[in-house]
Amino acid sequence: MPLTHTRELFAKALKGKYALGAFNVNNMELLQAIIEACEEEKAPVMLQISKGARQYANPVYLKKLIEAAVSVSTIPIAVHLDHGDTFELCKECIDEGFTSVMIDASHESFEKNVEITKKVVEYAHKHNCVVESELGQLVGAQFDEGEEGGAHSMKGVYTDPEDAVKFVKESGCDSLAVAIGNSHGAYKFKGEQHLDLERLKRIKKALMDAGLGDYPLVLHGASSVPKQYVEEINKYGGNLGTDTAGVPEADIEIARRTGCTKVNIDTDLRLAMTAAIRKVLTENPKEFDPRKFIGPARSAVKELVRHKIKNVLCCAGQAF
Ligand code: G3H
Ligand code: 13P
Ligand code: ZN
Repeated sequence: MPLTHTRELFAKALKGKYALGAFNVNNMELLQAIIEACEEEKAPVMLQISKGARQYANPVYLKKLIEAAVSVSTIPIAVHLDHGDTFELCKECIDEGFTSVMIDASHESFEKNVEITKKVVEYAHKHNCVVESELGQLVGAQFDEGEEGGAHSMKGVYTDPEDAVKFVKESGCDSLAVAIGNSHGAYKFKGEQHLDLERLKRIKKALMDAGLGDYPLVLHGASSVPKQYVEEINKYGGNLGTDTAGVPEADIEIARRTGCTKVNIDTDLRLAMTAAIRKVLTENPKEFDPRKFIGPARSAVKELVRHKIKNVLCCAGQAF
């Protein structure tokens, strides 16, 4: 079974009012965990590859691993470039057969962001690929000094609804990542904070009123940083900040119902994996067979993905 086009997954998700999980892939075990959970729960899935993942694992390995995932599963799978930072990187991925790419020029001026996005859109559309772009800047670590330091700086720029309409019309992008209080990484907020869901509603409505239809929005930084993983990591020798919190899952559910069609999750997978590895190695200091600690880590990620697709994104059962 070949890849399923992102365009097709989006159309079905918009119609079915569920969100697609976009999970980051960096190695074989993460990929297996995501695919096994989605296969068992009959969920369509978007696999995301970042520039860092390509540097870490080698694009050829990733491509072959995804081909293997497609051939051992029956669910619809799309492949997406996460946070492409140049036209050249987007072009490489389009040429490799990715079904969608993200160009992230959100740190540029509005005009420059339109110009860069438009160039990627023109190339992508000629080559059967769709484009996600971002308007506004997420709070926290993405553009600040460091994970912990940047996490609480609140330097983000929220997406303005009218700007969103102008941006989509001028750039021609196929989906839009919004900044509504979301943030990347494990250090998003101090204490509980919420997404600006009213703003999300206004963005969605402005796009609809402007004749852009049920336009797909994307939520980056959607990890909820579960306390149980942070505590487990610290219990077994880690040293993560404990006064950190992610996006509440209840907010993600509302975001899904308000029109976030693609929800990006990476950090929670990393936390689940790290917690499991630390536990096994601490409890079994003589262990040196990687399968004995990477195997449980894969199982932990699989259960996390199962929880997200069933209980938060509601895409379980939507594969066929
Ligand atoms: O938002 C970024 C993703 O979590 C990917 O992170 O660039 O470290 O692979 P990465
Ligand atoms: P998290 O860091 O919250 O998992 O966000 C991931 C993401 O937005 C990938 O693009
Ligand atoms: Zn992101």
